Amino acid sequence: MRRKDSLSIALREFVYRHFGIHARQRQVRRYNAANLGVDAYLKTHVCLKPFQNLETTNRGHVHVCCPDWLPTPIGDMNSDLLRQWAGPTAQKIRASVLDGSYKFCSRQHCRDIADRCLPHRDHPKVKETLAAFSGANIPAPVLVQLSHDRSCNLSCPSCRKERIVADKAEQEQLDAIFEGSALPLLRGAKIVYITGSGDPFASNHFRRVIKRLNRQDFGHLRFDLHTNGQLFDERAWRDLDLAGRVRSVEISIDAADPETYGIVRRGGTFQNLRKNLAFIAGLRRTGEVRRLKFSMVVQARNFTEMPAFVRLGEEFAADHVYFQMIRNWGTFSDAEFKAEFIGDPAHPRHKELIAILEAPEMSRPIARIGNILGYTRTPPTMQMPAANEANTGDDAESDVILAAD
Ligand SMILES: C[S@@+](CC[C@H](N)C(=O)[O-])C[C@H]1O[C@@H](n2cnc3c(N)ncnc32)[C@H](O)[C@@H]1O
Ligand code: SF4
Ligand code: SF4
Repeated sequence: MRRKDSLSIALREFVYRHFGIHARQRQVRRYNAANLGVDAYLKTHVCLKPFQNLETTNRGHVHVCCPDWLPTPIGDMNSDLLRQWAGPTAQKIRASVLDGSYKFCSRQHCRDIADRCLPHRDHPKVKETLAAFSGANIPAPVLVQLSHDRSCNLSCPSCRKERIVADKAEQEQLDAIFEGSALPLLRGAKIVYITGSGDPFASNHFRRVIKRLNRQDFGHLRFDLHTNGQLFDERAWRDLDLAGRVRSVEISIDAADPETYGIVRRGGTFQNLRKNLAFIAGLRRTGEVRRLKFSMVVQARNFTEMPAFVRLGEEFAADHVYFQMIRNWGTFSDAEFKAEFIGDPAHPRHKELIAILEAPEMSRPIARIGNILGYTRTPPTMQMPAANEANTGDDAESDVILAAD
């Protein structure tokens, strides 16, 4: 790498770490201080993610949860991951979950807080986990989320301005980092999640990772796959030798209409998606895959399709259909984002969003409104469910509790 390149990368990283992360941490604190409504709930519920999850990012940082929800990293991929897992930042985050302050977590963005699907303090799994963490040797992560390669076949406008594909040299670097830091952890983990950064089927690196985690040496591991679904067909399933090894699949779709799909999932086609969804639904119906989720990043372009999206989930055997408000990941100018950010009460169509939430489909058991409610002035018929009332806690089961099964 040329000296100028490495200097500019170092500068970018410095700016991100010292301004970006701190700015997001300040945003989390400000929002939480102004929105104390969930305090009582958080005092009685314990998120197990900081006790179970370790997540890599494309910047080489390591987190215990999605960086969008919990921006504070616990370390980076170039140092000993297990030491960081037991290190001071990780311990502070765990303490904040136990004292009920959740001060590192965004109450606005975290889907599990918004959906009230955290396990109760008295849940046997919580007690068991906390007991294991009270000893001198804390348990290793059970769920390792690999999100360090952004390579993807699509270029969704919400996510990036153009297609990103790691070149050969970058792939070699990623392979080496994975081999040295994440692989040893996976010998002890139970679940590997691929990926929140790019696409598991489009990234050469992640395809190699999946093959590297072969059933002979890593037969104990189960996969959680998060994908746009465009390349998830029977051939890929066989080629990657996935049979009997996948716990859950999340497909981000963001539309119910082919034309909208072509815009929000730039580079993909709805026709090809539906063909693959038929295959994936078959995997769910036979029980080959234990959980199937569809997700939509809600924005001005697609919010009217939310009810139809729930129906799409029902058609293709999804257990849950998740909605998540769009954020500006730096791909939109201020004006562009203002036009897309339907969550803003000042948006000219915000009232239509509230009306859409009243559609009967949005109350169906598979629909998970997620953090959308946090952005709307909650109308009377759409009150937040009380703890584990409308939501029985089975999301917590899938994402957290079952991580240790
Ligand atoms: C970056 S993608 C990686 C996984 C895979 N490529 C996919 O799209 O499912 C992870 C998730 O981020 C979501 N996402 C993309 N842009 C977003 C944005 N601006 N705000 C919030 N979520 C976004 C995607 O819809 C997807 O569910
Ligand atoms: S409460 Fe939400 S943000 Fe905090 S660790 Fe759990 S899932 Fe992450
Ligand atoms: S498919 Fe996923 S990773 Fe790829 S561009 Fe879209 S949101 Fe980003």
